[in-house]
Amino acid sequence: MIRENWGTRVGFILAAIGSAVGLGNIWRFPGVAYENGGGAFLLPYLVALLTAGIPLLIMEFTLGRRYKGSAPVAFRRLNKNAEFIGWWQVAISVIIAVYYAAVIGWAAWFTFYAIGQTWGGDPESFLLSDFLGYVQGDGSVPGIGEFGDWQLGLTAVMIGVWALALLIIAGGVRKGIEVANKIFIPLLVLMFGVLVVQAMTLDGAIDGLGAFFTPQWDTIGNAQVWVAAYGQIFFSLSIGFGIMVTYASYLKRKSDITTSAVTVGLSNSSFELLAGIGVFSVVGYMALQSGTPIDEQVSTGVGLAFIAFPAIINTLPYAAGLFGVLFFASLTIAGMSSLISIVQVPVAAVEDRFGIGRGVATAFIGGGLAVVSIGLFSSANGLIVLDVSDFFINQFGIAVAAPVSIVAVVWLAWKWKELRQDANRTSIYKIGPIWLICLGLITPLILGYMMVQNIVDVFTGSEEVAADYLDNQTYGWSVAGGALAFGVVMALLLRRKSVPDLVDEEEAEGEATPTGGKEESR
Ligand code: ALA
Repeated sequence: MIRENWGTRVGFILAAIGSAVGLGNIWRFPGVAYENGGGAFLLPYLVALLTAGIPLLIMEFTLGRRYKGSAPVAFRRLNKNAEFIGWWQVAISVIIAVYYAAVIGWAAWFTFYAIGQTWGGDPESFLLSDFLGYVQGDGSVPGIGEFGDWQLGLTAVMIGVWALALLIIAGGVRKGIEVANKIFIPLLVLMFGVLVVQAMTLDGAIDGLGAFFTPQWDTIGNAQVWVAAYGQIFFSLSIGFGIMVTYASYLKRKSDITTSAVTVGLSNSSFELLAGIGVFSVVGYMALQSGTPIDEQVSTGVGLAFIAFPAIINTLPYAAGLFGVLFFASLTIAGMSSLISIVQVPVAAVEDRFGIGRGVATAFIGGGLAVVSIGLFSSANGLIVLDVSDFFINQFGIAVAAPVSIVAVVWLAWKWKELRQDANRTSIYKIGPIWLICLGLITPLILGYMMVQNIVDVFTGSEEVAADYLDNQTYGWSVAGGALAFGVVMALLLRRKSVPDLVDEEEAEGEATPTGGKEESR
């Protein structure tokens, strides 16, 4: 079976940026940054980017390119005992894809609603009651196990979201994913750029920016702030759940690794900062309008995008519709390019590991995911399912799978030397001992601490953990534990099944020595 390669280096970098820049940048980062010390958060955030984000990105890029396979294949080729990590990451991607698509669907609907501000004067009740059907007429809400009423509007838009994502994936790496990102990224930068400029011209914007950038230095010694910075980097850079390994597996052998990783890391963080500037300009404006303090305007996630923003858009002095359309369309596009990369992880895993064609893998795996996603999130309890799944899969999925993958590569398989040589062989910027110290020591230690802290917080019912997460722990632990269990079971089932020969186009044309397809140790 012949695997594709990216058409151009720019195409790969744009696709990787498209994956990284997503809902996490626009709706999560600004609030997380503000809650964790504003300007002072930028220091831990930068440290997290440099010590964990970029080093792990380099590792994932090198793994993908060296072993020429999606996550389960790459880890299997690293070491037979490591395949479970790849399947664990596949399961994490599956869970994220299922709820991520729902939020893109909401954003797509809100792009349309923004034209005439259909949400009316009370965006909160519009979102929770009219749109999601979550809050019932008598004020009650469905529990996590109750489906509640079916929302046909959500079904319709989610069919659209999934159809587009799967068509792009079925189009292939070069003609589908690469082409889509070459359209999505410039469009996103243009739209978001106009939005941020418009936001910065609003009255009060400067106060909002002041609040965002004024450091509260007393927070810097707080371990939670550092944990938040590291947590943000992983989801945001799409590392730790198989995406970047998969994308890099389509690289040609001579592709630069380190420059691409630095470019992707810095672009993602620049976009995140831009989102912070846009959001806080608007928050400053809102505070001035309502005469309330800025900290009362700040929220993250669903609340920020679908409640606070519509409320703010209602009060804009001019071009409110345009502002709303730009915001929600940016969210839709940023989310779509990330969703494609998330769904590519299970699709490519099945393709590579079982030697089946792209069309069939996309139809069965992608189609199956679409059905589950549409079914789960067309129901009134979607909001609570999303919120709890997102928390548990981030804290006990990505943040655990990432250090496990590092320990496996660096310490157990002892492959850091080969990976470093491999990356340096084709890269302009060479990596040295600092990369190893960051990757092999600092990151696992910090993530290990983070994991223990998070477990203690949940088990002791700490105030740091929202009540919804504590109340729905059985479901949350099943999601996070289920992902790991799936990884282990798949690896056991496939233990005796060798990986099919995967030759890529470059090797088929005789331009490269076929070193992929070999298991390095058993
Ligand atoms: N990296 C993607 C995001 O930030 C998943 O949303």
